[in-house]
Amino acid sequence: MSNIQSVLHETRVFTPSDEFVKQANVSGMSAYQALVDASQKDYEGYWAKLARETLQWKKPFTKVLDESNAPFYKWFEDGELNVSYNCLDTHLTTQPEKTAIIFEADDGSVTRINYRDLHARVCQFANGLKSRGIKKGDRVVIYLPMSIEAVVAMQACARIGAIHSVVFGGFSSKSLHERITDAQACAVITSDGQFRGGKAMPLKPAVDEALGMGGCEGVHSVIVYQRTNSEVTWGGNNIWWHDLVTGQGTTCEPEWVSAEHPLFILYTSGSTGKPKGVQHSTGGYLLGAMLSMKWVFDYKDSDVFWCTADVGWITGHSYVTYGPLAMGATEVIFEGVPTYPDAGRFWKMIQDHKVTTFYTAPTAIRSLIKLGGDLPRKYDLSSLRLLGSVGEPINPEAWMWYYTEVGQSRCPIVDTWWQTETGSHMIAPLPGAMPIKPGTCTLPLPGIQATIVNENGDEVFDQHGGFLVIKRPFPSQIRTIWGDPERYKKGYFPHEMRGYYLAGDSAHRDEDGYFWIMGRIDDVLNVSGHRLGTMEIESALVANPLVAEAAIVGKPHEIKGEAVVAFVVLKGARPADAAAAKKLAEDLRNWVGHEIGPIAKPDEIRFGENLPKTRSGKIMRRLLRAIAKGEEITQDVSTLENPAILEQLKEVVR
Ligand code: WTA
Repeated sequence: MSNIQSVLHETRVFTPSDEFVKQANVSGMSAYQALVDASQKDYEGYWAKLARETLQWKKPFTKVLDESNAPFYKWFEDGELNVSYNCLDTHLTTQPEKTAIIFEADDGSVTRINYRDLHARVCQFANGLKSRGIKKGDRVVIYLPMSIEAVVAMQACARIGAIHSVVFGGFSSKSLHERITDAQACAVITSDGQFRGGKAMPLKPAVDEALGMGGCEGVHSVIVYQRTNSEVTWGGNNIWWHDLVTGQGTTCEPEWVSAEHPLFILYTSGSTGKPKGVQHSTGGYLLGAMLSMKWVFDYKDSDVFWCTADVGWITGHSYVTYGPLAMGATEVIFEGVPTYPDAGRFWKMIQDHKVTTFYTAPTAIRSLIKLGGDLPRKYDLSSLRLLGSVGEPINPEAWMWYYTEVGQSRCPIVDTWWQTETGSHMIAPLPGAMPIKPGTCTLPLPGIQATIVNENGDEVFDQHGGFLVIKRPFPSQIRTIWGDPERYKKGYFPHEMRGYYLAGDSAHRDEDGYFWIMGRIDDVLNVSGHRLGTMEIESALVANPLVAEAAIVGKPHEIKGEAVVAFVVLKGARPADAAAAKKLAEDLRNWVGHEIGPIAKPDEIRFGENLPKTRSGKIMRRLLRAIAKGEEITQDVSTLENPAILEQLKEVVR
């Protein structure tokens, strides 16, 4: 709550410099307003014009938006194109020698690849995929560290019309298994291991484990990129990346697909235990990625763009693999961690590669402030012209540090609100148009009809806020949940929202109409900018033979934004002493790490003989949240079945 209070009182306003406004792609508020007006005057015409101007079509579309089977919207459906063609081939004649990717490895070594060579490598790998019988519509799971290869693998899938599903390397074998089986993948692309913070860590064993869990009979190929040279066990359907591409040609005719052909599935957490496979389109998705590069990142040919997100998340999809390449940018990709060899790594890399546009998450900013708040001053950051923030609300203190210490009070900050489901930025400043304020993502992108409604779907404009919704369909939005259209319909378009897209966040607007995101309205936590479902972690815990019941809540955390607190009821007695409790808590944390992945490990575990429930047996989560925060319990607990257990649950296992 303190966070929300402080942002409510924020009065600092930062207007872009004349110099920035002059060179901006959308220059001044009037230019922004003109775009908004155009979108309101003729919604479909507006998007059609942008889609024609921005994308390269093999076959032009004649239909724009098809709402006949709402909310299963279709955009530009009879048009044909290929995303990999738009990202690579379009630059072959104009700028083949331009560096596409500057890859900096964990150990600091740097590899550059230009557009000509990247195109050749993507084609070669695409031909390799085809040689394994992989074709349009097949699902391919990618489980790779940050690397040029990860981008090549994704682009190669797009080139042949295969649907990739990237799984973040921090997910466990069980999570990987769940995604492979749900997507019914026919191939997995992985590496022997990955380097992080000076250490080689295995990756392939998780794939072997996942495939051994059953239900993966459809996986006929496991392609392994050799990164760490560590020993791996080898299965019959395994093939080294380098062997797969040997002898393959360096051109590959793109598979021309409908604009509605699924480009990828990306799993994300929702309010039930099972992650949902968010399905994105080809045309609408790429349009969103490119327009936001142009408008929000004010992209220029001279830029060196760096988005620090992993390709395992949507941010890495849109602003590492697709958006920057489609624009013909030079971008930085980093294998390692921001704190190795020290907390100046990001700043050193900005200096070394002359980064102009830097995009990261508040959690990274907060931890770097803590580990070395004065480190940016040791480096030459004069190349920077624009900063970005994504994934969670940025607190004004972190914002001000980012603005003054990293951006040297020269660079606008674009605080970008969006989601896995929206594919690209929805609410964010156009930096040469609107003034910015710490903690607000400002105004919707032109054409995005975001607003705030109450539980009946009526728009509200006061400071109390309500549910964040988007009133009209937009090109880059989720098309469905893979294999579960009902869940898509119910989750995002509940009846009372009148056909608006329900984002799952609450927000309010200030006197300038700027949006302030207040947090999730569902059982989703945002831990270090990662989405985690409370039910997902609860199911993981109760799968442990010792656990009878578990409840997960979030509590504010200085660095991570939110921390995971687990309340656990054992099948047997509570641990006898502090040492036993500590041992068991550690075992359970590791268990969750194994079930879901290290990112989901509870920060705190508390054991009780029971959970606080109403007489009807409902867990009182509000009470648990108060206990987790260490707040005085002021609410009436007389309806509680078992008030005595509250004392037990106050004890944190250390
Ligand atoms: C939160 C990440 C405040 C929000 C791109 C959303 C934000 C969820 C912001 C989506 C922001 C994202 N300010 N909150 N600028 N950006 N969020 O799917 O709760 O991993 O619903 O997509 O992150 O997380 P996801």
